[in-house]
This record gives sequence, C-alpha cells and structure tokens, in this order.
Amino acid sequence: MDELTAQTILNGLRTDWLARNVVFFEMTDSTNTIASRLAQQGAPEGTLVIADEQTAGRGRLGRPWVAPHGTCLLFSLLFRPSLEARRAQGLTMVCGLGLRQAVRGVTGLPAQLKWPNDLLLHGRKAGGMLTELSAQAGHLDYVVAGIGLNVNVDAAQLPPEFHATSLLTELGHSVSRVALLQRALEEIEARYHELQAGVWPLQEWAAALDTLGQRVRLNTTQGALDGRAESVDEEGALLVRQDDGSVRRVLVGDIGLPDHGSDP
Ligand code: BTN
Repeated sequence: MDELTAQTILNGLRTDWLARNVVFFEMTDSTNTIASRLAQQGAPEGTLVIADEQTAGRGRLGRPWVAPHGTCLLFSLLFRPSLEARRAQGLTMVCGLGLRQAVRGVTGLPAQLKWPNDLLLHGRKAGGMLTELSAQAGHLDYVVAGIGLNVNVDAAQLPPEFHATSLLTELGHSVSRVALLQRALEEIEARYHELQAGVWPLQEWAAALDTLGQRVRLNTTQGALDGRAESVDEEGALLVRQDDGSVRRVLVGDIGLPDHGSDP
C-alpha cells in the first residue's frame, strides 16, 4: 500500500498553487468539515485537507460516506473563486472532469460522470463529490469540494446498498493513491484556471456525463419523476423529458438508473 502523507503528496506534485498547503490526518471526522472550518479561519485558496480515514464522512443528501482505513482517497479542496453563487456548479464540473481525467490517465479505465457529481466505472459508482459553499450578496466567499474515490478497497467490503465499485475491483490490482491524487490536482488546477478566465466547462462536462440520453428515475425534493435525461443547462441543471412530453428542469436531485436501482 502506498503511504499518503503531506510529504509524499508534495513530492513531484506539478501544481502552482493547488494543494501547496496540505493538512493530513490519519483519522478525522470529515475532511469537508475541517476544510470549511479552515476556510472560515482564513486558510489560503488551494488548501488540501486529506485523511486516511473519516469517522463521519458525509455524502450528498445526508448520506454517510464509508471507506476502510488507508485504502481510498478522501479529500477536500478549498477554493475562493471570483464567481457568482449561481455559478457554483462550475466547481463541481471542474473537479468532476479533473477526477475523471486522472482516473483515465493513471489507470486507463473508461471513467464517466453521472449527473450531478458521481464518478462511474462500468456503470457503477466509484467516487462522489460533496460541494459545500459560503456566499455573500450573491457572490461566492469560498467553496469546499470534497471528493471520495474508492481506490484500493474490494467493493465487496463496501455496504451492499451503495452498489459501488472501486479501481481495485475493476482492475484486479491496486493503484498508487499518490499518483492518482497528484494527477487529479494537476487536472483540476488547469481547469480551474480556465474557469476563472471565463471559460465555462459545460460542453466538456455534458460530453462526460453518462447520464444523458438515458432513461432515468430522478428523486427530487418534490418527489420522484421518470423520463429521459436530455441535456444540462448553463447552471448544470438536468433537463428531463417526461412521458407526457413536458420537460422538467432539476437543479438538485439524485438519479437511479433502471439497472442499478436508486443511487446510494
Ligand atoms: C456523494 O457521492 O454522496 C458525495 C461523497 C463525498 C465524499 C467525500 S470524502 C471526502 C469529503 N469529506 C466528506 O465528509 N465527504 C467528502
């Protein structure tokens, strides 16, 4: 197993500013919780909070995020973007695309994204992202992008209701967490520069979404709806054509693909 420490992460890392401040824990409650606290205390943009284990890892929609000690990537990145709050989804796009490219580049696996922020391997969830933000007067103060990626864990060790997979399970061998993390940081930094320069990554993101064109069951705050996922709009909302021909726009929700039941 490769050792994950601030030193191993920084050694050979080719970013300018992302993850130049590394806060590493062998165990903590949640890297997102720590990163948000550090953000409020004035930590610099690019701060990386990373742990070998979380005792209270959080997923979207109040779900837990579970990973055995020392096997996976569990980290949060602090951004202070010059963006309107309604453009916060841009950070999710940038991080999702960076993570996908890192998995593809390091392992050769055909990683895809699932709306709004899951990473899929052969149709099963191998990673997810929890983006939390603070905004004032319509502008982002900070964004914490928390990423969990199942790396060297046997998927059989994960709770069955998660319908999850891992890089180990898909490849049949383990992968360097340091190499994956460094590649992800480099890919994310490059895309974040473009975002800050005004390049909106919608087209690349839409092309990476496995979801589009599929029939989906979408769980929303207003209940479930069935239809065909047609496209995403500028703000990252999913446009679903229902069976009666009408189109519903969903900004916050969760998809269950028919083959795999409801998403964990
Ligand atoms: C999801 O798919 O529901 C999002 C999962 C996000 C998990 C990561 S692990 C690192 C960071 N810290 C947390 O508590 N959650 C995120």
